[in-house]
Amino acid sequence: MIDVINNKYFNLYNESFSYLLYIMDNGQLGHLYYGDSLGKIDENTADYIAYSKNKASGTVKYSPDLASFTLADHMQEYPTYGTSDYREGAISLSRGDEVLYPDFKFKSYKITHGQKRDLAMPQAYGDDCDNLIITLVDEEKELTLDLTYTIFPELTAVVRKAEITNNGKDSIEIQNLQSNVLSLPDSNYDFLQLSGAWLKERHIKKRPLEQGITKIESLRGASSHQENPFAALVARDATNDTGRIYASNLIYSGNFITQAEVDEWGTCRLMSGINPATFTWRLNSGEHFTSPEGAVFYTNSGYNGLMRQTHAFARDHVIDSKWKTKKRPIVINNWEATYFDFNEEKLVSLAKRAADLGAECFVLDDGWFGHRDTDRTSLGNWIVDKKKFPNGLAHFSDYVHQLGMQFGLWFEPEMVSPDTELYKKHPDWVVRHPYKRASIGRGQYVLDFANPAVVDNIYHQMLAILSSVKIDYIKWDMNRNITEAYSSYLKKLARLQGEFFHRYILGVYDLYSRLLKKFPDLLIEGCAGGGGRFDLGILYYSPQIWPSDDSDAVERLDIMTGTLLAYPLSTFSNHVSAVPNDQVKRMTSLNFRQDVTCFGPLGYELDLNKLSQDELNKIKANISWYKKNREILVQGDFYQILPVGTKNNTYAWAVSRNNQQIVGFYRKLARPNETLDHYLPLKDLNEKTNYLINGKQKLSGKVLQTFGLREPYQFNGSNLDTAQLIGDFQSYIYQINSQNI
Ligand code: GLA
Repeated sequence: MIDVINNKYFNLYNESFSYLLYIMDNGQLGHLYYGDSLGKIDENTADYIAYSKNKASGTVKYSPDLASFTLADHMQEYPTYGTSDYREGAISLSRGDEVLYPDFKFKSYKITHGQKRDLAMPQAYGDDCDNLIITLVDEEKELTLDLTYTIFPELTAVVRKAEITNNGKDSIEIQNLQSNVLSLPDSNYDFLQLSGAWLKERHIKKRPLEQGITKIESLRGASSHQENPFAALVARDATNDTGRIYASNLIYSGNFITQAEVDEWGTCRLMSGINPATFTWRLNSGEHFTSPEGAVFYTNSGYNGLMRQTHAFARDHVIDSKWKTKKRPIVINNWEATYFDFNEEKLVSLAKRAADLGAECFVLDDGWFGHRDTDRTSLGNWIVDKKKFPNGLAHFSDYVHQLGMQFGLWFEPEMVSPDTELYKKHPDWVVRHPYKRASIGRGQYVLDFANPAVVDNIYHQMLAILSSVKIDYIKWDMNRNITEAYSSYLKKLARLQGEFFHRYILGVYDLYSRLLKKFPDLLIEGCAGGGGRFDLGILYYSPQIWPSDDSDAVERLDIMTGTLLAYPLSTFSNHVSAVPNDQVKRMTSLNFRQDVTCFGPLGYELDLNKLSQDELNKIKANISWYKKNREILVQGDFYQILPVGTKNNTYAWAVSRNNQQIVGFYRKLARPNETLDHYLPLKDLNEKTNYLINGKQKLSGKVLQTFGLREPYQFNGSNLDTAQLIGDFQSYIYQINSQNI
C-alpha cells in the first residue's frame, strides 16, 4: 500500500513493514522510519513521528530563513554533501568546472501499479507491486530528479532507483548517483559483508559499525570475487530467528560501493550504487540518466527472517519466473573430468556413462573452439575445432540428445586471445589504453563491450553456433577483470572515459538480452572464474550461477552459508567433483560430497570412467533420490538450524515445502570425546502432524520443533556400537515426511 497523507507524508507499508518519508521544512525529501509495520497511519501520527524539537548544536544551518534547520541532523532520502550536511551524499554533479550543490525540492508524485519484466536492463518486476515516483526539481540548476520506490504485498523490500534529467542548455557531469539510501536513527549494528577471493568467495565477515565509514566496493569491472554488493546491518543480539537486520543489495554487476556512514550522533546512513570512483557520465541538455536498481530489506526475525526476504525477492521478482517451475537439469560437466584434453570419442564415453547414471544435461566446457588446447589461445574465435570434432559439433550434440540428455556449451563472450583474427583485425576492440603497456590476465584481453559493434560481432558468432547446433544451456564465463580501462570507441565519440565501466556492463546485459530474445528457452548459467560476478544483475538473465571454482565440498559449506544470506538455493550450481579435490587436494567421501551438493541445482564434474562400480552405484542412487526430491531441494524454503557464524565446525540447514523437509547436517572435523546428545530443533512444521524421519522414526511436529532431531552420535572413543564411524567430514541427510501426505 502507498498512502499519501496531506500531500506531505508518504507511507509505504504492508502487514510486515512500513517505510515513511516526508517533505521536510525546506521542501526536500526526508526519511522518517523503516521497520515493523505501523499499518495505516493518520496525519496526527505522522506529525508526531516527524516532529522533533531537538536542535543539533555545532552545525551550520540550511539558510537564514530556516534558522534552526540543518540537514546535518536529518535523515534524508537523497542527500547531497556540503549543504549543511557533511556526510557523503548520494549525488554529485558538476557543470563545466563548477561543482553543483543540488537543492531538490518536492514538485509532484505519481503512483503506479505493476512492473513488467524487460530484458533491456535488470530490474525488479511483479504484477502486484506498487510504485511511487516522486519528482523533485532544482529550478535554479535546471535539474529534475525522479526517485522511484517499489514495494510488494508479501515482502519488506523497498526497491529504489534515481533518474536525473538535465533541463538546462549546457551539459552536466554526473560523478555519483546512488541507488539505495537508507537512514537509520541508530548504529548498534555489525556490518556484515560477503567477502573472499577466487576459490573462497562470499564468506561471512562482520565488524561493528563505528563513527566514520565502513565500506565495501569493487573497482574491477565486475561485482567481484572479493566483495559482493550485498551487505547487512545486523543487530548485535540477532540470532537465526530473532533480532533486527537491515540489508541492501544492487541489481547490478559492475563496479559498486556499499557503505555505512555513522555520524557524530551515532545515526547511520547506508548507501549503495555505482562506484563513483570510476564513474563520470556526461548528461547533455534534455538527456536523462537512470541509476541501476537497488533494494533494501528489513526483518525482525534474524538471519532466517532475512533469508525469507532476500530469497523471495530474487526468486519472485528478479529471476525469470519460468525457472520457478522449469526443472533445473542434473548436469555432467567435462571441465574437471578432462580439462582441455578431450576429443569427441572421449566425450561420448563420458556422456554415455552420465546418461546411464541419470544425468540430464551434458555441458561441454572450455576447449571446443579455435585451437584451444590451453587457456592462452582462441577466445573470440568461436568456431568449432575440427580436430576435436571431426564430424562437427552438431554431431556430438545430436548424440547427446539421442542419449536423452540436453546439451550445454561454454562461452567466454567478453574476452579475446591475442592470437585470434578478431584481435588482429580489431586491435581497437580491446579494452586498453593507448599506452604501450597493457596488463594481461590468463593470457587474454577484455573486449570493449561499451562498443555496440563488438557486442554485435560476438552475438553473431554465438548465433551461428546456436543456430547450427542444438543447444539448451550456455555456461557464460568471464575469467579476468578489467585494467587500464579505456575505450577507443568512446574516444571516437568524444564521450567521457568515465562512462566506460557502466557502458561495458550495459553491453553485457545487451548481449544477454539479444540471446534470450532469440532463444527464450535457453538456460544460461552465469560464471566468472567461478563466483566473480554472483549478483542480482546476472541472476536477472541467468537463473543459476557457478558459485566458485572451488568444488571442494568443505569449502562449499562456507560459500553456501554466506551466499545464502542474499541469494536462494535455486541460484547455485553445485557439482560433485573428484578427490583428491583439484583446488585444495582434500580427500572427502563421495557421500559427503553428494550430501553437500544436493541442496540446489546438482551436477557432476569428474571422470566417471575412473570410478569404481560401488561409486557409480552410489551416484546412480543419489541421482534417482535427487530427482524425486528436486522440487524441495531447489525451490524449497531454506533455513539455518545451527547459528550462522563466521568460523563454524558444524552446519545444519533445512529446506521445506508442502509440509516436508530435508535437513543436511555436516561436521568438518571430528571432536574427541564430545558430549553425545546434540539436537537440531526444526521450524515450520505442523505441531499436530506426525512425521516419519528417514522412513523409520515417527515423531510429532511439536517434538521436532521443541526438542529437535538428534544429531548422529559421534565416536567418543568407546561407543563403537552406536557412533557414526566417519572421522572428519561427516554428513547426514534427514528426510522428514508428513504422514498425512
Ligand atoms: C573458469 C570457470 C571454470 C571453467 C574454466 C574453463 O575458471 O569458472 O568452471 O569453465 O574457466 O577455462
